[in-house]
Amino acid sequence: MRLNAKTAIITGGTSGIGLATAQAFVRHGADVTITGREPRRLEVALARIEHNCTGVVADAGDDEAMEAAMRSAAARSGGIDIVFANAGHYVHSALGHTTRKDLENQLGVVANIFMTVQLALPHLRDGASIILMGSVYASMGPPGAGAYAASKAASAALARSLASELSPRRIRVNVVVPGAVDTPSWGMDAMETSARDGQKKRLGERAPLNRMTTADEVANAVVFLASDESSGVQAAEIVIDGGTTGAPAGSPRFIRGE
Ligand SMILES: NC(=O)c1ccc[n+]([C@@H]2O[C@H](COP(=O)([O-])OP(=O)(O)OC[C@H]3O[C@@H](n4cnc5c(N)ncnc54)[C@H](OP(=O)(O)O)[C@@H]3O)[C@@H](O)[C@H]2O)c1
Repeated sequence: MRLNAKTAIITGGTSGIGLATAQAFVRHGADVTITGREPRRLEVALARIEHNCTGVVADAGDDEAMEAAMRSAAARSGGIDIVFANAGHYVHSALGHTTRKDLENQLGVVANIFMTVQLALPHLRDGASIILMGSVYASMGPPGAGAYAASKAASAALARSLASELSPRRIRVNVVVPGAVDTPSWGMDAMETSARDGQKKRLGERAPLNRMTTADEVANAVVFLASDESSGVQAAEIVIDGGTTGAPAGSPRFIRGE
């Protein structure tokens, strides 16, 4: 029980990495509040988590709703020990084809992360752990994804400043940096099996481990950062990408010369 008696809030806990993390947190003894924008998706997710978890409908960009979510999470034990600022989405942003609205929509994700932490602040216990969502795209220079990459790089920069501001209260701020994770965000659920398998294989071939990362593997890293086992880890980034960025020359695509 690595998170025994800890109270956590996860933004975007209805799917993918957020849902897997909520399940892992509960398994490790935490009391968890998840947020999401859709009441029905929240209900379905809560049914999958079963116990020690509640849900609050809150768009991460809606400060009033997020404030209510923080109050609700804190009310469960008188404070919050863990914040996982996970909620996010992808907006394609090819140069020459991107509107200001697209940019603001994508870059707004990092504003939402800042506000999530700020709204949690009055409820955070000393020694709390905050985990922000990053991405390997922040450092890979993916074409057509400049706004997404910039927003994830901004998360990492933000974590470092927040860590400096919050260290006097022993509050830690770290970042998880996933590669290609097998979640609904890739839009593969609607594909036929053979197309889906082909797409997963192609995405997995960017990594020396030759597969996509699972949401559970990212959740394991978040559990570590949320737990007291990582008490000395501050302003750090944990990369969970099967070696995509650390050893790109070992990927099947590189070895084939693609
Ligand atoms: N999958 C990957 O390969 C990958 C790699 C690196 C980083 N990431 C990052 O990991 C995070 C989670 O992605 P995922 O792959 O797990 O995607 P996902 O399966 O689509 O889940 C996204 C979650 O975020 C919620 N969400 C999105 N926008 C929100 C908002 N404005 N307010 C509240 N909740 C919101 C969604 O809930 P509702 O739709 O119900 O609101 C859902 O629960 C994202 O920040 C993503 O950029 C993903």
